[in-house]
Amino acid sequence: MLKKGMKVAVLTGAGISAESGIRTFRAEDGLWEEHRLEDVATPQAWERDTEMVWRFYQERRRQLLEVDVNPAHDALVELEKGFGVDFTLITQNVDDLHVRAGSKRLIQMHGELRKLRCEECGHVCEAMEPEQLMEDYVPCSNCSNQRLRPHIVWFEEMPMGVWDYEAAVHDCDVFLVVGTSGHVYPASNLLPIARHTGSYCIGINLDPPLNVDYFHEFHQGKAGEILPEMVKEWLES
Ligand code: OAD
Repeated sequence: MLKKGMKVAVLTGAGISAESGIRTFRAEDGLWEEHRLEDVATPQAWERDTEMVWRFYQERRRQLLEVDVNPAHDALVELEKGFGVDFTLITQNVDDLHVRAGSKRLIQMHGELRKLRCEECGHVCEAMEPEQLMEDYVPCSNCSNQRLRPHIVWFEEMPMGVWDYEAAVHDCDVFLVVGTSGHVYPASNLLPIARHTGSYCIGINLDPPLNVDYFHEFHQGKAGEILPEMVKEWLES
C-alpha cells in the first residue's frame, strides 16, 4: 500500500505507549478513574487546586523514569528512516517515548511532560533533574515566578503545532492512526479531514475507536504486535 515517494502522516495516542506500561486514559483502569478529568486537566483546575494538579503531573513525570519504548515506537522510527521528509509523526502523547525511540519529524500536539512553562514570562524548560521531580514547585530560571506549570495542553487550550500538523494531514497520501480512542477533539477530527482530502486511512487499535468508520483499513489488536510487521512489509515492498 505504502510506496516510496508517497507522503505519510501518523497520529498516535495513549494506546501506543500502553505496552510500555503507561496506562491509557479511558480504559477501565485508566487515569481518569482515580482523578476526574476536570480535576486535573483544565486551567480552572490549576487555579482552583494547584497543589493537587501539580502532584498529579509530578507523579506522571516521575513515571517517565520507569518506562521504556516498545516495538511500536521503534517501528515508527524505521518508517521515518524509509520516508525521510515525506514522513510526519503527530502524537497526542505527553510522554517522551517517541523522542527516546529516535523519532525526529515529530509534533507533540498536547505538550511534553518533561518540560515546564512559566505563565509570567513564557519561558519553557526541560525539568527532569531529581529536585525538579519532587513535591515542591519549581521556580522559573528566567524571572521571579516561583511556580512553573506543566507544559501540557489542557482542555480548552490550543494544541501545539497546529499549522504543521494540519498541513501534514492535508498533504498526506497515507494517514496511519495508532492507539487512540477518537474521543478528544481536535485530534479526533484529523481522521475525517484526511479521509475527505483523499488520503488512504489505516487504523490500528485494541478496540474500535469512535471514528472507526473513516478508515479504509482497520486492524484490531496491539500496536506492538501489528505495527512492526506492517512497517517491515511496507519497507520491503
Ligand atoms: P484513550 O485512553 O482515550 O484511548 C487509548 C486507546 O488505545 C483506546 O482506544 C484503546 O483501545 C487503545 N489501546 C490500548 N492498548 C493498546 C495497544 N496495546 N495497542 C493499540 N491500541 C491500544 O487515549 P487517547 O485517545 O490518546 O490529553 O486520549 C486522547 C487525549 O485524552 C490524551 O492525549 C490526553 C487525554 O485528555 C492530554 O493529556 C492533554
